[in-house]
Amino acid sequence: MDIFSQIDLTKSPKHIAIIMDGNGRWAKKQGQERLFGHSIGVDSVRDTLSAAKKIGVKYVTFYAFSTENWGRPQDEVEGLMDLMVKTIANEVPAMNENGAKLWSIGDVSGLPQDCQDELRIAKEKTAQNSTINMILALNYSSRWEITEAIKNIAEKVENGLLKSTEINEKLINEEMNTQHFPDPELLIRTSGEQRLSNFLLWQMAYTEFYFTDVLWPDFREEDLFKAVLEYQHRERRFGQVSEQLI
Ligand code: IPE
Ligand code: IPE
Ligand code: MG
Repeated sequence: MDIFSQIDLTKSPKHIAIIMDGNGRWAKKQGQERLFGHSIGVDSVRDTLSAAKKIGVKYVTFYAFSTENWGRPQDEVEGLMDLMVKTIANEVPAMNENGAKLWSIGDVSGLPQDCQDELRIAKEKTAQNSTINMILALNYSSRWEITEAIKNIAEKVENGLLKSTEINEKLINEEMNTQHFPDPELLIRTSGEQRLSNFLLWQMAYTEFYFTDVLWPDFREEDLFKAVLEYQHRERRFGQVSEQLI
């Protein structure tokens, strides 16, 4: 039986978060520059989004550029920013075909101006779509996001808009970049690395982690289905015992 038909479509995760890793190693294996790996990785994003749509997933968050990635060699950073600008513009028709609405998380104001512009335009052009939400984590790091949230809450307390006793998980959630999305049920990281690299630390308190050796530019529909199938075989207990879950 093929993988797709084994998936229980009534139990697809609503939100999948993906750490797209291994572009550089993939390129090296082909005897190519790292940037070639990043550009082929765009095909994987497109394929993954349409696969997610097929199984009824409503949100996919792609970790595209971390705050720490600024520390890479300058030519790679510039190449990645150029690729981002071109890709965001080029992908709008495909996003519209898929009914995908574009969002971003991360400090967009720290991106080059042309990248900010393309992002804003693409968001406007896809704003009416409602089949699936495509969230790009750009200049994102979880500790940055949490720090900003704490600053905002502290400011409200300082200004007398909020009492410290009123701070609760819901209120903290509302200060996060992800306030409009449910927490991811499933995290996928490619390339064999098994770490979070500063991604959605608050949001992934009860997320299932799936690690695969597949390098991101090789990641295709089947690989997403495999991850979802494994997720569906896991028992999520949320601190309870098996017998309570029936
Ligand atoms: C992930 O691939 C893409 C980004 C971080 C932008 P890498 O560029 O990290 O590829 P590896 O891990 O060096 O192979
Ligand atoms: C994580 O990958 C960030 C993105 C996928 C954008 P990295 O390749 O930057 O992470 P580390 O350095 O291996 O932790
Ligand atoms: Mg990497």
